Amino acid sequence: MDIAGRVVLITGAARGLGCEVARQLASADALVLVSARQQENAERAAAELGSAGNVRALPVDLDVSDPDAGAEAAAALRADPGRLDILINNAAAYVDWSEMASSADLKLAEQVMAINLFGAWRLTQALLPLLRESDHPRIVNVASGAGSHADSQFGLTRRGGAAATYGISKAALGALTSTLAAELANTPVLINSVCPGLTATWPGAEQMGARPIADGAASIAWAATIPDDGPTGGFFRDGKPLGW
Ligand SMILES: NC(=O)c1ccc[n+]([C@@H]2O[C@H](COP(=O)([O-])OP(=O)(O)OC[C@H]3O[C@@H](n4cnc5c(N)ncnc54)[C@H](OP(=O)(O)O)[C@@H]3O)[C@@H](O)[C@H]2O)c1
Repeated sequence: MDIAGRVVLITGAARGLGCEVARQLASADALVLVSARQQENAERAAAELGSAGNVRALPVDLDVSDPDAGAEAAAALRADPGRLDILINNAAAYVDWSEMASSADLKLAEQVMAINLFGAWRLTQALLPLLRESDHPRIVNVASGAGSHADSQFGLTRRGGAAATYGISKAALGALTSTLAAELANTPVLINSVCPGLTATWPGAEQMGARPIADGAASIAWAATIPDDGPTGGFFRDGKPLGW
């Protein structure tokens, strides 16, 4: 779908997949607002991405686990550019691969849930009024096969319990996608979860078989650009359905 002129907000976009999704959507002539926990990092990313198209930094420190984050993002968007068409809940955290559910530090687990689940939920709640004013509203929740029962490589039952909170948080994010899509059925808002696949956003990832950032980012960008008769309430990788 042609997304020229659409306004996009991406959380956690100063580096990694979020930054590359910003590049791809700006290259498609969207106006992309990148956000980060520290505004200066979003400004640096926006400056670096400037040649890709129209990229700006959201002028607030956007820590999605902050209870005020949603209201602050909404106020900044209302002030300029005054609209929002596409929200990409990309920000995420992770404890450790060795973290097991039986022994997990629940303080750390709560912090991860506060970002991966409640951060996306908070931003979605706060920005829905703006999105409802759009003719083509889209919400993309960046999830992971790690939160799926169906992923045969990294799924919930395929890691021997490793990275417990990360998987549980992404499964919960999928449940949020389904639940909200059911609530918003018969509205123009299309909300989907996507998995970028194992993507090389950290040193040494290629040696584990991770794919280039541009490929993982394209999997996310796809859900931001689906047409009005596109899917809602689904879970996708590279535009193809994944099992929950
Ligand atoms: N890479 C993969 O193989 C893979 C696979 C499946 C799914 N995913 C998902 O894809 C998304 C992007 O992953 P990535 O590999 O690009 O991760 P990343 O390089 O670790 O980037 C995560 C981003 O989230 C931000 N963030 C963390 N906590 C935040 C908070 N409280 N508020 C706002 N931003 C926060 C980070 O900001 P700072 O720079 O401030 O730390 C960073 O920009 C995540 O949702 C991840 O779970 C990735």
